[in-house]
Amino acid sequence: MKTNPGTAFITGASAGIGKAFARRLASEGYNLILHGRREPQLNSLCEELHSQHGITAEYVIAELSNPIDLHALEERMRTIPDLTLLVNNAGFGTIQSFENEDIGRLDAMIQTHITAPARLMHAVLPRMLDRRQGAIINVSSVAGFLVSPGSLYCATKAALTNLSESLDLQVRDKGVRVQAFCPGFTRSEFHQRMGVDTSGDFFKNFMSAEQVVDASLRALKRGKVVCIPGLRYKLAVLAPRFLPKKVIYGLGYVYRRIRGQSDGV
Ligand SMILES: NC(=O)c1ccc[n+]([C@@H]2O[C@H](COP(=O)([O-])OP(=O)(O)OC[C@H]3O[C@@H](n4cnc5c(N)ncnc54)[C@H](OP(=O)(O)O)[C@@H]3O)[C@@H](O)[C@H]2O)c1
Repeated sequence: MKTNPGTAFITGASAGIGKAFARRLASEGYNLILHGRREPQLNSLCEELHSQHGITAEYVIAELSNPIDLHALEERMRTIPDLTLLVNNAGFGTIQSFENEDIGRLDAMIQTHITAPARLMHAVLPRMLDRRQGAIINVSSVAGFLVSPGSLYCATKAALTNLSESLDLQVRDKGVRVQAFCPGFTRSEFHQRMGVDTSGDFFKNFMSAEQVVDASLRALKRGKVVCIPGLRYKLAVLAPRFLPKKVIYGLGYVYRRIRGQSDGV
C-alpha cells in the first residue's frame, strides 16, 4: 500500500505550471491546498482532482502583493499539521520598459516573486524542521541567470534562486530540501497575460508545463538544488559564466530588440 505523502500547498495553481504541479502531485496521492485568484478555475480543478484521485483538495484565494491576504495565507499554512511540500509558483511578467511600467505593478512583482515566497517559507520551515521532513520548490526562472534591458523580472528571479540555494544550505542536513526551479520558455497563460501574440512558430518550441514539472520533481528526488529543465536552457545559463560581460550585455540587448520589451522567461 502507498504511504500518504502528506499535504502540498501550491501558489498560482489556477493555470500553467502550478496547475501541472497540482495534477502531478494529486496523482502521487498528495492532499492539496491550491492558491490563486480565480475561483472558478480553482474550484473546478479541486473537484477534478478529488474525483480522479480521491485526495482532498481545497483552494484559497489571495492576492500575493496584498500584505493582508499574504498574512492570512501565512497563518493558514502554520495550521496545516502534515504540510510536506510548499511550491512557491505564482508569478507574472511585464510588457513595458522599466520607466514606463506602472510602479504599482513593479512593486507587486517584488512582493509576488520575493516577499511572498520568503514569508511563506518562514511560516512553514519551523514545523518542517521539527519533523525533519519537508521540501520547498521555488519556481524561479532561467531569466534569473541572465540580464535583459530594464527587466525587474530577471532581478527578482535572480534573488529567488539565490535565496533558495542559501536556504537549502541551511536546512539540508536537517531533513528539509529547498529547490530553485528554473524553467525556460514554457507553455502556460504567462505570455498571453502580457498581451504577447503566442500564435507564432517561436512559441511552438516551448516546453510543456508537464515536462518541466516532471523535471523538477525528478530533481527533487535526487536532491538537486538548482533544476533547469531542457538541454538548451542548461547551456543558456552556462554562457554568463564563460563569456565576457560585454558579450552577455550585447546578447541581452539584441534579444530584447527581436522579442520586444516583454519579459521572456
Ligand atoms: N511560462 C514561462 O515561460 C515561464 C518560464 C520560467 C518561469 N516561469 C515562472 O513560472 C511561474 C508560473 O507561471 P506560469 O507560466 O504558469 O504562468 P500562468 O499560467 O500565467 O500562471 C500564473 C499563476 O500565478 C498566479 N498569480 C500571478 N500573479 C499573482 C499575484 N500577484 N497574486 C496571486 N497569484 C498570482 C495566477 O493566479 P490567477 O490566474 O488565479 O490570477 C496563476 O495561477 C511564475 O513564477 C513564472 O515567473 C514561467
